[in-house]
Amino acid sequence: MCGILGYTGNRQASDILLNGLAKLEYRGYDSAGLAVLDKGEIKIAKNKGRLKVLEEKIKSGHEISGTCGIGHTRWATHGEPSDVNAHPLWSDDKDVVIVHNGIVENYREIKNKLSEHGYKFYSQTDTEAAVKLIDFYYKQEKNPLKAILKAIKEIEGSYCFVMLFKDFPDEVWGARKDLPLIAGQGKDESFLASDVSAILQDTRQVYYLDNMEIVQLKKGVVRFFDTEGYAKPKELSEVTWDMNAAEKGGFEHFMMKEIHEQARAVKDTFGSVYHSGKINLNEIGLNDENIKSISQIYIIACGSAYHAGAVAQYVIEDLAKIPVRIELASEFRYRNMPMNKNSLAIIISQSGETADTLAAMRRAKENGIKTLAIVNVVGSTIAREADSVFYTMAGPEIAVATTKAYSAQLIACYVLAMQFAKVRNEIDDSYYEKLMSDIQKLPEKIDEILDAKETLEEIAYKFVNSRNAFYLGRNIDYAVAMEGSLKMKEISYLHSEAIAAGEMKHGPISLIEKGMLVAGVMTQKNLYQKIASNMLEAKSRGGFLLIVATRGCENLKEEADLIFYVPETDEHFAASLAVIPLQLLGYYVAVARKLDVDKPRNLAKSVTVE
Ligand code: AGP
Repeated sequence: MCGILGYTGNRQASDILLNGLAKLEYRGYDSAGLAVLDKGEIKIAKNKGRLKVLEEKIKSGHEISGTCGIGHTRWATHGEPSDVNAHPLWSDDKDVVIVHNGIVENYREIKNKLSEHGYKFYSQTDTEAAVKLIDFYYKQEKNPLKAILKAIKEIEGSYCFVMLFKDFPDEVWGARKDLPLIAGQGKDESFLASDVSAILQDTRQVYYLDNMEIVQLKKGVVRFFDTEGYAKPKELSEVTWDMNAAEKGGFEHFMMKEIHEQARAVKDTFGSVYHSGKINLNEIGLNDENIKSISQIYIIACGSAYHAGAVAQYVIEDLAKIPVRIELASEFRYRNMPMNKNSLAIIISQSGETADTLAAMRRAKENGIKTLAIVNVVGSTIAREADSVFYTMAGPEIAVATTKAYSAQLIACYVLAMQFAKVRNEIDDSYYEKLMSDIQKLPEKIDEILDAKETLEEIAYKFVNSRNAFYLGRNIDYAVAMEGSLKMKEISYLHSEAIAAGEMKHGPISLIEKGMLVAGVMTQKNLYQKIASNMLEAKSRGGFLLIVATRGCENLKEEADLIFYVPETDEHFAASLAVIPLQLLGYYVAVARKLDVDKPRNLAKSVTVE
């Protein structure tokens, strides 16, 4: 996600901002910028690309002087990475300048309203709507606090804003909703940051902002306000982490941090197409007419993205009744298969740069098939070349083993399945409403599972010396088993295979040995009994049965060595919950084996060669 910084004090702000932003580079970004308020004028420098380019541009800070400023590293969500879309963004007369982390969901409505008042928009960002809305109220109130309060009452979504007001020298203002913002207190200086690692070299005395709080920085003074504008007392805390831990938000590894970011990734991905109580696919290039004309879907991807597609295959076929073929990109690109022109190819990729996936997408296009890419990295090659894009809002993923991007991909697929089913009249309104309600409850259920993670940490030590593992499931649960198994093998180096449970007797069962981990996924009621029988066959040959089941599943209660229950949800969405304990299991086994969790051997985050 974007990195945010604010400073006011007696030192050169641009130096502090460039140093602090450098500490946020690990989060991933595609552009950088800063603004400094000096002698009643706000000077801005920003560009697409690395921080180094920005640094050179302003000659290490010396061309922008002033002791009060804000800075930003941007991970594009709305609008491609470009100089124009880079932050800071400003109001028409530069009275208000802002940096922003998060998503303004109702930015279109805000832009429409402001356009009627004569505002012009120069960027493709949602952030510009926010800064101009604040400016709109600032012009009426002449008071930053009142303007911010009025604006945030209208802004929907999640955000962390940090702002300068031209007529308020030495002041930096901030506001947050659902995204972190930290205030730092130094001697005669103060800081704001999205992440404590950005200010640790300057101060360890920090305030953690609560949700929906507003903060005002003056030199060495930090004040907080609630949404009614009343001042709020707050206690100073001392940060004791070292720098390395701080970048990981206090987690030992990026992978665990990203596992914990899944609820947010899921919420933001859904929020990106859900406006005013409705899912709108027009902005990702699909209107009702397109949806009705689809006669076949190909889902094309590699690795975990393929596993997300495997879940989608079951969900789309069951809800929307459209035939779906799930294809490994590396195979698809060399196949000569007849393709129906009314098909839709859904290309799934976190990086948007995977060589096989890109080649397969080009192949589909050559065949005259419409392509829709589900991609995390904005402006990546797949995103640019696809006919349309559904961006997942996972934010930058650093650990090689994907977790939050996979979870966000699932949500994008569910949204397509639900909307296809609705438009094609395959489900009635009341079931659609149930799906809408259940999909929005997934984030809190993911967090609930994470609260119970210690159970898996304890059990992981049993498999420190294991050599083999099986993951079993049927239908959606098989797709989840594939992802769970990949998580285990890629980071713990424990050889693991996912098996469609019904296939066990056709060969794999001969490999079961005493104590071997056999993980089973049970979230589909009509298949509980079937998978239970397969698990018992493994148990009677010495397998250690670890079951991930939906709460309420009574099967294997006596026989399993461990049952980890996940909350109930509509069964089409169960993969989003069942995968979490399996990610954790892979993680904890890798930690128990003292392996490099974030950078497993032989693997790259983005596979750009064939
Ligand atoms: C997942 O943990 C892996 N790192 C890998 O399988 C990955 O999903 C695959 O390489 C596809 O990458 P992409 O989503 O960037 O296309």
